[in-house]
Amino acid sequence: MSKIIVVDPFDYVVVGGTGDLAKRKLFPALYHRELDGQLPDEARIIGVARSELTRDAFKAQVEAALREFVPAADIDEAVFAKFLNRFSYQPNNAFTVEGYQKLKDTLDEHPDRVRVIYLATPPSLFGPISAFLAEVGLNGPRDRLVLEKPLGHDLPSSQEINADVAKAFDEAQVYRIDHYLGKESVQNLMALRFGNVLFESIWSNAVVDHIQITVAEDIGAGDRATYYSKSGALRDMVQNHLAQLLCLTAMEAPASMDADSVRDEKLKVLRSLRPFNAEDLTTNVVRGQYTSGAINGESVPGYATELGEATTTETYVALKAHVDNWRWAGVPFYLRTGKRLPVRSSEIVIQFKSIPHSIFRPYTTDQAVPNRLVIRLQPDEGVSLRLMTKDPGPGGMRLRAASLDLSFKDEFELERFPDAYERLLLDVVRGNRTLFMRRDELEAAWEWVTPILNVWSASDDEPKPYQSGSWGPTAAAMMMDRDGRHWHEDMR
Ligand code: BG6
Repeated sequence: MSKIIVVDPFDYVVVGGTGDLAKRKLFPALYHRELDGQLPDEARIIGVARSELTRDAFKAQVEAALREFVPAADIDEAVFAKFLNRFSYQPNNAFTVEGYQKLKDTLDEHPDRVRVIYLATPPSLFGPISAFLAEVGLNGPRDRLVLEKPLGHDLPSSQEINADVAKAFDEAQVYRIDHYLGKESVQNLMALRFGNVLFESIWSNAVVDHIQITVAEDIGAGDRATYYSKSGALRDMVQNHLAQLLCLTAMEAPASMDADSVRDEKLKVLRSLRPFNAEDLTTNVVRGQYTSGAINGESVPGYATELGEATTTETYVALKAHVDNWRWAGVPFYLRTGKRLPVRSSEIVIQFKSIPHSIFRPYTTDQAVPNRLVIRLQPDEGVSLRLMTKDPGPGGMRLRAASLDLSFKDEFELERFPDAYERLLLDVVRGNRTLFMRRDELEAAWEWVTPILNVWSASDDEPKPYQSGSWGPTAAAMMMDRDGRHWHEDMR
C-alpha cells in the first residue's frame, strides 16, 4: 500500500505556466497528488508567463489542459474544483523587475511557507530570472529553484548557466530535474541493487560480460521537431537520462540515501567514464536519423520531412562506454536511444558470462546460455532473470532457458504507476535533493559527451538513415557484431 504523507504548506510558482511542460506534465502531476490527498489545504499554485491573462482565463487554460492530459477516469469533479481554486496568475515580462516584485508581494502574504520557483522556460532565461529573483529577495532560505533540462547545449554553456544561477542561489537551493530519476522503476533499480544481498557479489567484471541500456521510443520528434533540431538524441537523452541510468547501474553502494551520498557515488561513475578518442568516435559511436516508414502499421514521415528541411540532427545514438574502475574494468556498457523505433521500451540488461565449463556435454550438445538479468523500466515495469533449467521429461539431460519474471504491476496490484513528476515536484517541497542532479554531476556528464558533439559539428558526415519502425541504423548492430554480441531485442 502506498503511504500518503501530506507535505508542508507551500506556494508553487511555475514560470512558463502557460507552456507545454506545465500543461502536459506539471499540473497533471500536482492534480494526481491532490487526488491522493497529499496537498495541504493552504497550498497555492501561481502561474507566471508573458501573456496578459486574467486569473479566470488562466484557470480555463489549466482546466482544458487537465481534461486533456489526465485520464478521464481520474477526474473527480470535487477534487478537480478544489485543485483549480489553488491557481492564480501573474503576467510578467521576464526582463522587468516590477513583475518579480509583485510576485514577491504575493508570496510574502505567507512568509513562513516553503516557496518553490519552477523555471519551465528556455535555459537562456535561467541566469537572468535568477538575478531578478535575487534582486527582489526571492532567494531566501525558504526559496527553492527548480531548473528543467536542457541545462545548456555543451559543457561551456552549461557551466555558464550554473555560474549565473550560483550568483543568486546556493547549490542547496537548486533542484535540477532529470525526470528519469523520478520514475518508480528507476528508483527500483536502487532497491534491487542495495536492498538485496544477492546481487552485490555478482555485480562486477568477475561475472558480468557486458551491460546494455536501451531507451527506445516509438514516437517521433513530432511538433517538437524545431526544438529537437537544436538538440538531437545525444543532448536530449544520452547526456542526461541514459547517463543517469548508467550511474545508478554502475555506482557503489552509497553510505545512505542522503542526497549527497547518492550524488557523490554517481559523480564517481561519471568521472570514471573513459573519454572518447578519435577511433571510438568513428567506430563506437553511431548516430542515426529516421526516414519514413511504419509504426504499428501506420505510415509515418521521416524527420527531415517533419522539420521541413534537410538536417544533420541525430534522432538515434548508440555508443560503447567504459567505466574505468576496479569493478567495471573490461565490461563494456552499450547505450542506445532513438525515436521511431518499433516500440516504446526502456530496459537495462545485465548480461552475465558463460559458465566456465559444461558438465552436460557428454549427454547433450545443448549449450548453457549465459544468464541475463533484464530490468524493464517501462512499460510493464519489472525484472526478469534468465536461468538454465533441465528440459522436462525423458530424452537425457538437456538444458533449456527459462525466465523468473516479476511484474511490479501484477505483484503489487497497482492500477497505475505515478508519473515521475509527481514524486519530484513534492520532493522539492520536502527539501529532498536525492533525485536531483548536482552541478558537478551535470557538468561531468557534459564533459563526457561534449567531445562527441564537437567532432560531429566539425565533420561532413551525416547521421546514418534508418527506417521508422526499425531498430536503428545497421552500424549499431555492426558495432555489437564486431564485439561478438548482439542487442537484446526481445522487448515486450
Ligand atoms: C524527454 C525528452 O526528456 O524525455 C523527450 O526531451 C523524450 O524527447 C522524453 O521523448 C522521454 O521520456 P519518457 O518519460 O516518455 O520516457
